[in-house]
Amino acid sequence: MTRRRVAILISGRGSNMAALIAAAQAADFPAEIALVLANRPDAKGLGLARDVRLATAVVDHTRFGKDREAFERALQAELEARSIDIVCLAGFMRLLTPWLVTRWERRMLNIHPALVPAFKGLDTHERALAAGVKIHGATVHFVVPEMDSGPVIAQGALGVRDDDTAETLAARVLAIEHTIYPLALRLVAEGRVTVVDGRCRIAGAAADDHILVTPIIAA
Ligand code: GRF
Repeated sequence: MTRRRVAILISGRGSNMAALIAAAQAADFPAEIALVLANRPDAKGLGLARDVRLATAVVDHTRFGKDREAFERALQAELEARSIDIVCLAGFMRLLTPWLVTRWERRMLNIHPALVPAFKGLDTHERALAAGVKIHGATVHFVVPEMDSGPVIAQGALGVRDDDTAETLAARVLAIEHTIYPLALRLVAEGRVTVVDGRCRIAGAAADDHILVTPIIAA
């Protein structure tokens, strides 16, 4: 098995990065983490990546001022230097322009802490509570130039509790993120995801009869 070479792009804590690194340690995982790249030298996840002896790089966006393309050319150079096949954005807090995104079409994934297309952008858990939705979750999707959009590869959902706060919801959604990101990367690395009319078809996926109903009322 040739393992696809993956770069994880981070800006901060790196818990999704850690979930991907852990998954890639399995002998049968179809991808290896060949680079962890941060746009902030103080990104906490960099330390975690170094601790497990992964290759790391920093492309500090502040060095490029408003010149987004120059920043992206520097990112692209790091990705090419490591012969990267697939890019995973994992809490990477920079908007990318079509210049970079189109170069990685169907090879760049992002995780968003909401059920896309609901609650694109920031503060998703606060907004889910304010909207009063009863079901919330997380999404892994292919990256397209429009933010938090693009064909959905995997989603996970949970029932919102009456006593949830943005913090409790964030913690429970994060556990979903750590499950669906390794799953989505596996599927893409195995070449099992094809996009037809904007929808991802997953080769070998079982017929899905799950339903999630909330609230649950004791009998
Ligand atoms: C996650 O909630 C992710 O969905 C969002 O930013 C957060 C990053 O967390 N895009 P971490 O750095 O992976 O811990």
